[in-house]
Formats: sequence, C-alpha cells, structure tokens
Amino acid sequence: MPPDPYAWIDQTLQAIHRADWYRSVQAVSGSPGSVVTLEGQKLLNFASNDYLGLAGDERLIQAAIAATQVYGTGSTGSRLLSGHRELHHRLEQAIADLKQTAAALVFSSGYLANLGTISALVGARDLIVADQYNHASLKSGAALSGATVMNYPHSDLTLLRQQLQQHRSHHRRCLMLTDSVFSMDGDLCRLPDLLAIAESFDAMLLIDEAHATGVLGERGSGGVEHFGCTGRPLIQIGTLSKALGSLGGYVAGTAPLIDLLRNRAPTWIYTTGLSPADTAAALAAVQIVTQEPQRRQRLWQNVQILQQMLQNVLEHFAPPTWKLLPSESPILCLQVEDAATVLSLGRQLRQWGVWAAAVRPPTVPTSRLRFTVMATHTPDQLQQVAIALQKLALGACHP
Ligand SMILES: Cc1ncc(COP(=O)(O)O)c(C=O)c1O
Repeated sequence: MPPDPYAWIDQTLQAIHRADWYRSVQAVSGSPGSVVTLEGQKLLNFASNDYLGLAGDERLIQAAIAATQVYGTGSTGSRLLSGHRELHHRLEQAIADLKQTAAALVFSSGYLANLGTISALVGARDLIVADQYNHASLKSGAALSGATVMNYPHSDLTLLRQQLQQHRSHHRRCLMLTDSVFSMDGDLCRLPDLLAIAESFDAMLLIDEAHATGVLGERGSGGVEHFGCTGRPLIQIGTLSKALGSLGGYVAGTAPLIDLLRNRAPTWIYTTGLSPADTAAALAAVQIVTQEPQRRQRLWQNVQILQQMLQNVLEHFAPPTWKLLPSESPILCLQVEDAATVLSLGRQLRQWGVWAAAVRPPTVPTSRLRFTVMATHTPDQLQQVAIALQKLALGACHP
C-alpha cells in the first residue's frame, strides 16, 4: 500500500480527543440576547461578547435592512476598486470621533485588522515585543510580519524593559503589542506605563481594544479613554463584532497612519469591502454607544453583582483549587483544575440553564469557566446564575 499523506489528520484528531482539547460548534437559534436557545435548550447567556445587548437591537436590525435595500447585499469589490461606499466613510468618521483620533479605517474583521496593520508597520529588520497573553490575531500578525518577535510574561513590564534594553538598538523599528482587556482573563493592560516605555525606547504601541470599545471609558471609547490616554501616540485596533453587535474590525489613529494602511495593509487592500448591512449596523451601534451611557452603567452594575456572587461561592462552597482570576472587565473567569473538570462543569451548568464558555488549553494555559456579562442581564437572571454556581460548587466538593 502506498503511504497515505493524509493519515496524520486522523492521528492528530485522536490526540486532540485524548487531551480533552477537542472542540466543535453548537448552533444557537433565534435572536441573540441574554437568553438564547442552544440546540433546543433555553439558556441564560453568559457566553457572548454582546456586552451592551446590541446584536439583537431593533435599531441595528433596521439599519442593516435599510442599507441592504439601498446598497444591496455585498460591496462587490475591494475598497480601492469598486467596493467603497459613502457608508464606509461615515462609519470610519464615527469611529474616529468615538476614539478622538484624526482618522479610522474599517476592515472585514478585527482579526484581519491586526494581521494587516502589524504586517504593514514592521518587517524583517524590526522588533516586536508583545504580552504573552495577547489575542491570537496579534500573534498571527506578528508572525506574518517577519519581524523578530519577543513575548514577555503577562503584564511583566520589568522583563519588557529588559528585553528592550538588550535588543531595541539592534533593530530599525520597534512595535509593542498589547490587548487592552485580556480576552481570556478579563484584566487590563497597564497602558500609561506601556506608553512611557514606548516613548523611552522609541517604539510604536498598538493596543487591541476589542473587548474595551463600548465597554470602558465614560464615553465608551475604550481602555485608552479609561486610562486618560486619549490623544497619546497610539495605534488603536478593535472589532465591530463585540459591544458593537455587528461584524468587522477597525484601526484608529493619525491621518498618515491610516493613509499608509490604505496603501500597505494587504488584508484591507486585497479583500472585499465590509458589507453594507454590517457597516450600517456598526454605525448605528457607535451612535448608541455615545448616546446611551446608561447601557454601560447597567453593564458595570451587573459585572459587580456577578463578581460578588462568584466571590461568595468561592468563599463558602467551592473546592480550594478553584480561583477567580483578577478582572476589571465584564469577563469573569473561574479557574478550575483541568480540561476534563471544566468540560464537566460547563455541561452541568447547562443542565441548570446557564451557558458559560468552558475554555481550555491550548487557547489558555489553565482551564476556566469564562462568564461574560451583558447590560441586558436582569437581576432575576443573575440570581439564577448564583443558585446554579452554588449547586456546581457543592457538587464539586461532595461528588
Ligand atoms: C482581543 C481580540 N482581538 C481581536 C479579535 C478578533 O476580532 P474579530 O472577531 O472581529 O475578528 C478578538 C475576538 O475574537 C479579540 O478577542
């Protein structure tokens, strides 16, 4: 028999299963919200990134329908050829206003925004220093750029400084990369310190505001506003697909930066423009973010309530091995022993009507239940989670 060049695929899948790392999709039916139907079962939704509850908001839906009726379903070409619409320009202007930057550019996803921007800014002669816990899209962008990449342990700015002291002078340009809210932990980067370091080492600083836009800052502008760093020399990236309830990504910064990206970012130049429906929905969402601060206030009230509930469960009911990871965002993570435990806990929670993500290696170093809070969770719904968590913890102590 000739060798089968595809045999490794089955072998790899078996290895993934053995490690409890196997993943598959589950279908949600109906509209998004704080309650969803997952494979026929109604569940309280603590697994989405729809922090402000805008993905099912009637105003976004109507904006998407109206744009489709006017512009059709697709943009029909890349932005530099036939795919640019006035709607894209309006969204980019609205994002620049929200971020208080001179300009912005929308991409087809946040992932593509990171890939295209990083590879446009640095190349083989340059250095990237990056937080070890950064999102996969920052890591992929760094790899694609061809620059020398150095990761520093999560939020360890002493080591970051050491890396820069040793290596910065051997490279032409330097780009620092960080998440704003770390997506699988919920803590924040130390932006003012990172900016000071960037300044003293003649480095650019790129911050990924995917989980911060619409969530952090009084105006909902994100982590940059939260830390009082608006107007500082930064490259801000984010997504339209989380608090903004749509699809797509963006970069916000100076006019020359955006001009350069239009000429150098392959994931913007060589791909079809964002669809009219997604563009219009995101535009409606940016307007709501600035006009309805009460949504953000409700979100933060809910975050506090769930955080206290989780702490209470840990103090009184849970095994000592469980730990609430430090968080300053709507992402709250309960770290548990291992991948098999987190899978089993996730399944039990679902039996009691609560959906939270069971996150395992290789996505994260340790297994955890990841709860994401929404502005639209009601006090009753939060109470139901508290009860389910108590049962979960008691069950783990007395199996
Ligand atoms: C920190 C971070 N950056 C980028 C992305 C990618 O954004 P998108 O889903 O728009 O591709 C995500 C989310 O998936 C994220 O969590």
